[in-house]
Amino acid sequence: MFLIVTLPLNCMIQLNHSTVLNTLSEEDGFILGIETSCDETAAAVLSMDGLLCSNVIASQHEVHRRFGGVVPELASRKHTEQIEEIVQEAIGRARINIRQVKAIAVTQGPGLAGALLVGVSFGKSLAYALGVPVIAVNHLEGHIASAWLAQPDLKTPCVTLVVSGGHTHLYFVPQFQEYQLMGRTLDDAAGEAFDKGAKMLGLDFPGGPALDRLAQSGNPRAVRFPRPYLNRGGLNFSFSGLKTSLLYYLRDVEKKGHECVHADVAAGYQEAIVDVLVEKTFRAVRRSRVNTLAVVGGVSANSRLRWSLKKRADESGVQLILPSLELCTDNAAMIATAGLWAYSQGECAFWDLDAKANLQTRFSPLPKPTDVQFAHQ
Ligand code: KG4
Ligand code: ZN
Repeated sequence: MFLIVTLPLNCMIQLNHSTVLNTLSEEDGFILGIETSCDETAAAVLSMDGLLCSNVIASQHEVHRRFGGVVPELASRKHTEQIEEIVQEAIGRARINIRQVKAIAVTQGPGLAGALLVGVSFGKSLAYALGVPVIAVNHLEGHIASAWLAQPDLKTPCVTLVVSGGHTHLYFVPQFQEYQLMGRTLDDAAGEAFDKGAKMLGLDFPGGPALDRLAQSGNPRAVRFPRPYLNRGGLNFSFSGLKTSLLYYLRDVEKKGHECVHADVAAGYQEAIVDVLVEKTFRAVRRSRVNTLAVVGGVSANSRLRWSLKKRADESGVQLILPSLELCTDNAAMIATAGLWAYSQGECAFWDLDAKANLQTRFSPLPKPTDVQFAHQ
């Protein structure tokens, strides 16, 4: 019933963040990552010198499909049912003994409170039983860490776009593990725009990938949607108006009895989101005067976005880091990686660690949207 995705062994990846990992080696054991912030139960094992040994993801899409979206209570129950099996699977695939786990990294937030609680409670209990530290990881920093999984010698300064179901945040990363917010969505995240648009087009859950697939057979120029905030708002985004445009478009064609080619509508709608994301992200790269860009999070799996980013990066000579599809959407390999960074700096949590649905990014006191606008106009 659940889709389990694992990285083939030939996909083993070596991290090389010498400044951070200089004192750790494989003899120091392994770090177990656990991710349960939404509807993926995931566990991964990383050696202390950054070798990804296993990455197991159990998706709950089948559970939520008939409701057209994630039902938080069902998500928590499913995490509870399958977390032990997934962790055992990750340990087994890494071919290690559980006693070789020397630290456990869990997603503390942001995400669904009940879902997070399952991972945090399981991680804490297992860490306590093994006598090893537990490390709290911010889900967003996890996504950012996936860029280093994809490109271990990724150099800073760089710009990173985190584009997922809950976030559309542009960061300037002056140096490893330091993040400065340049712009963000003022309302819906890009992933929400995909999911809501897909729903209006009658597509199955999860909407983003379904819309991506449908759009591949459509003409992106057949139906034009507005490019929200393209020429205002500094480096901020706004996607809530776009779904209203889609709603009106669909209502109009139905009222007028016009033919509606859903693949063209999906392609046109997707193109509007992609255009704005790509344009503002490359503006951020230009303004930061850097040559390296990482794009992470579930929406970075979108085929048109990947194509468009690669094209722009080639044209402008920018080094683009796009994690593989398994590392774009939620996974525990990214949590183990961010956990390893924290562990190597002695940042371990206390036993009263609690899940935090609205956990803010510790690295950037979010400026008010107006401040962002003025600062990066
Ligand atoms: O990072 P992620 O797995 O979870 C969050 O942290 O939110 O991102 C999930 C989001 C969902 O909105 C999903 O529809 C979107 O990423 N997504 C996509 C694609 N794959 C996932 N959106 C567009 N095209 C895709 N291929
Ligand atoms: Zn995520």
